[in-house]
Amino acid sequence: MSHPVYLALDLPQLDAAKALAEKVKGHVGGLKLGLEFFCAHGHHGVHELAQIGMPIFLDLKLHDIPNTVAGAMQAIHVLEPAIVTVHASGGRAMMEDAKAAAGSETKVVAVTMLTSLDESDLKRTGVDGSAHDQVMRLAELAEAAGLDGIVCSGQEIREVHRQWKHGFFVVPGLRLPEHGKSDQKRVVTPRQARDHGASVLVVGRPISRAEDPLAAARAIEATL
Ligand code: C5P
Repeated sequence: MSHPVYLALDLPQLDAAKALAEKVKGHVGGLKLGLEFFCAHGHHGVHELAQIGMPIFLDLKLHDIPNTVAGAMQAIHVLEPAIVTVHASGGRAMMEDAKAAAGSETKVVAVTMLTSLDESDLKRTGVDGSAHDQVMRLAELAEAAGLDGIVCSGQEIREVHRQWKHGFFVVPGLRLPEHGKSDQKRVVTPRQARDHGASVLVVGRPISRAEDPLAAARAIEATL
């Protein structure tokens, strides 16, 4: 089984991102690069980090008309990402075309609802009902569109996994008890997320902001 932890490299500087990835190499399974990194450093930045030799997760959260998203997927084909994200709210045709345009080795996973949105935000966009129902509805749509899986929180993973048995699930927002809860109300550990069906565990600040990132990566690894 491959290592499930992907380190979120949410650092603006390419050199700093590369140095951090080198430091924890062997104790995480892959690297997650977001929109900020990709807009700043593009293909060059991805090539630089790919040299370290770990799978790359491009968290681009694509959302546009099907033709444009398919074109974007084709444009990143050469980077051979292990995982790419799109927005489920882009609709079934957009997700189908994204999957069809992706390389056969690339998992295409859908973001259902951003965790920065709550139910009142949802209502303002014209969606009535609970955030939970919206997540489950979009997960069903992503599965029907032939995607590999979705991004979901540690709170949802159990139910999503029950509904979509063979899905590929990416879970961010994870903490060990010693990391403290900070601003999060309901903390899920990497181990709990894994036990409840997560395929990929995204960890950022608990490693990247640790005094000793290697020790932090090892501590998380030891719990799995
Ligand atoms: O909180 P942490 O630094 O571990 O977050 C790691 C990554 O997961 C970040 O790239 C962040 O954007 C993403 N994240 C998310 N949803 C959350 C928490 C974090 O997409 N609820």
